[in-house]
Amino acid sequence: MVTKDQTVEVNFILMFSESDFIPTKYSRAIETGKFEWSSPSNIALVKYWGKKDGQGQQIPANPSVSFTLNNCKTITKLAFAKKQNDGKFSFDLLFEGKPKEDFKPKIQQFFERVLIYLPFLKDYHFTIDTQNTFPHSSGIASSASGMAALAMNLMSLEKVLNPEMTEAYFYQKASFLARLGSGSACRSVKGEVVVWGEHETIQESSNFFGVEFPNSIHENFKNFQDTILLVDKGEKQVSSSVGHNLMHKHPFAERRFEQAHENLDKLIKVFESGNVEEFITIIESEALTLHSMMMTSVPYFILMKPNTLEIINAIWKFRNETKIPVCFTLDAGANVHVLYPENVKDKVLQFIKVELVGYCQNGQYICDEIGIGSQLLIGN
Ligand code: PMV
Repeated sequence: MVTKDQTVEVNFILMFSESDFIPTKYSRAIETGKFEWSSPSNIALVKYWGKKDGQGQQIPANPSVSFTLNNCKTITKLAFAKKQNDGKFSFDLLFEGKPKEDFKPKIQQFFERVLIYLPFLKDYHFTIDTQNTFPHSSGIASSASGMAALAMNLMSLEKVLNPEMTEAYFYQKASFLARLGSGSACRSVKGEVVVWGEHETIQESSNFFGVEFPNSIHENFKNFQDTILLVDKGEKQVSSSVGHNLMHKHPFAERRFEQAHENLDKLIKVFESGNVEEFITIIESEALTLHSMMMTSVPYFILMKPNTLEIINAIWKFRNETKIPVCFTLDAGANVHVLYPENVKDKVLQFIKVELVGYCQNGQYICDEIGIGSQLLIGN
C-alpha cells in the first residue's frame, strides 16, 4: 500500500523543476565544522555520450544506467569556517594532503554553476582535502567519484542550515549538484544500479539526477564483479567533454540515442529474468557502440589501444571455450572493465592472471564489485 508520504514523494519527483533545488531561507546558522564522505566510481552499462542542446547544463541526450562500484572511490573532507561574504569564493584544495593548484579551476567553475542552489557558498572559507583509493593517474576517471564526494559534503552542510530537509531531497539534490560537476557523477551518489536520464518506462527517471533502478534485479546480478584492467594509464588524448560535444553534428547521433532507450528496455527485462547471456550481448554492444561513436565523429578519434583489442579477443575466446559468462565494457579510455557473476570469480581471476595481465601496463588491475553508494565518514 502506498502511504500519503510516499505519494507526496512520488509527486515531487514527477513534477520536479530545477528551481525546487533553490533554497528560500535557512532556519539555522553554523560557524565552523567538518564533514567527510566517500563516493564510489561507477561503470555505465548503457552509456551516456552526448548532451542535449539548449536545455540547461549537463542534460544527457539519452538515458544511461550504471553499476555503482565499491572499492574505487574518492574520500573527501570538507572543513568550513564562516567568513565575510565579499562576493568571492574562498577555498584551499588538497590532494592527498598536498596543495593541488591545477584542480582549482574545476572547483571554481563548479562553485559558480551551483551557487544559485547553494547560496551559502560565498559565506565560508572551505578546505577541501581529497584522496582516491585507486592509483593516481591509473586512467580511471576520478571526476565522477570526486564530484559526488564534494556534492555530498556540501549537502551535509546545507542540511545543518536546513535540518527539515528530507532524506529523499538530500540525496536527489546531491545527485543534481554532482551532475553539474560532471555528468556521470550523478550516478555515484547511490548504489547499486542507478539510472540517469528520462526513460518512458522508468517513471521516476530524470535528466536532472540519478535514481536507484526501481525494478527488480535477479539474484544473478547481485554482487556482480568488475575487474578493471589498466591498459593505458596515460592522459586521454580527447577529453569526455570534447567527445560529448562531437555528438552534436554526428551523422549517427539520433539513431544512437534511440538505441540507448531500446537497450535500456532490454536491460530492464534482463535484470528481471536473470538472463546473463542477453546481458552480455547488450553490455558489449554498448561498449563497442560508444567507441564507434568516437571513431565516426568529425573529427574522429580512437581511445582504445592495441591491448584493449587483445583483451576483448581473449575474453571472447575464453567465453566460447569455457561457457563461463564473462564480458567486457569500456569507458572513455583504453582500460577494460571485465564483468562477471560472483559465482565464477575464482575461474575468471585465474584467467585474468594467466592470460590478461600481460596486456596491462605494469601488470596492474583492480578488483572491484557492485557497491552501495556514497557513505558519510565524519559528521551527522
Ligand atoms: O561524465 P562524463 O562527462 O565524464 O562522461 C562519461 C562518459 C562515459 O563514461 C563514457 C559513459 C558513462 O555513461 O559514464
